[in-house]
Amino acid sequence: MSTAVAHPNIALIKYWGKRDDDAILPLTGSLSLTLDVFPTTTTVTLDAAADGDAAVFDGIAATGAAAARITAFLEIVRAAAGVRTPARVVTRNSVPTGAGLASSASGFAALAVAAADAYGLGLDERALSRLARRGSGSACRSIIGGAAIWHAGHDDATSFAEAVPSPALGMVIAVVDAGAKAVSSREAMQRTMRTSPYADAWVRATAQDLDAMMDALARDDMTAIGELTESNALRMHAAIMGSRPPIRYLAPQSIALFDAAAQLRAEGLEAYATADAGPNVVLVCRDADVDDVRDRLAERAPTVRLVAAHAGPGAHLVPDAS
Ligand code: PMV
Repeated sequence: MSTAVAHPNIALIKYWGKRDDDAILPLTGSLSLTLDVFPTTTTVTLDAAADGDAAVFDGIAATGAAAARITAFLEIVRAAAGVRTPARVVTRNSVPTGAGLASSASGFAALAVAAADAYGLGLDERALSRLARRGSGSACRSIIGGAAIWHAGHDDATSFAEAVPSPALGMVIAVVDAGAKAVSSREAMQRTMRTSPYADAWVRATAQDLDAMMDALARDDMTAIGELTESNALRMHAAIMGSRPPIRYLAPQSIALFDAAAQLRAEGLEAYATADAGPNVVLVCRDADVDDVRDRLAERAPTVRLVAAHAGPGAHLVPDAS
């Protein structure tokens, strides 16, 4: 039995679009901050007597596509280990699942670390990142603590995340809607790349944004870090909105939060907005400003749940609970 904990990550430079759907190789690199809130805890137990895998999410047995996705991932681990023993996977998520709050990132990062250990693979951080990527692309970044770059790479061996030097950054998560999203990021990504006339421009611009972000982090230039973050997110949403049939993740309340970030800046507090594939908005700021940003955002958005977050650890094994 092996248990691992992983935290979600929020990208400053987004991953949106695959060039290989099966190996989950992205069209561009991306860069994120792994957080210290909303952990996922996953236990993997090998069960030689079972007919097949079993997965339980927050006390509810997984069925259908969710169960199939776990088994497909475990098949990758079993192939590497050269065994066929089924496993029982028990997961506790403290992040609302499927709401664009990166639950798949923490989920597959925790599963990768726990399953690799349970099947005796003995993988290093890079190999764990590559493995987590096969579950959900962004999960490769949650293997790494704090700021992480996911190198797009050109094949399975070269597409992984690793730590990057960064000033101390913090985030304030504004939970606009904790319900499941209408279109999964997997499907929306495919539709964007297939149908959006802005897809190519997104890919080109993001490769440049990633280089510029690496420079901004190295210079400790908060204004550049923030402007690149906000612009890159809006460009991703522009590309998504160009899909047919259309997909729109940002809600009126999401847009209001982008406006609120601009107001904080006008008052001299550097906060910048980003949003993943859902209506929730995350404000990025210097770590020392997190409480200020949360408090001043609360005055403007009193009905929105706000969660202050700091840089958190990479996915890691923990002592088994039982
Ligand atoms: O890992 P996935 O397939 O859920 O992709 C998520 C992509 C975004 O969260 C929207 C952006 C990112 O880089 O995390």
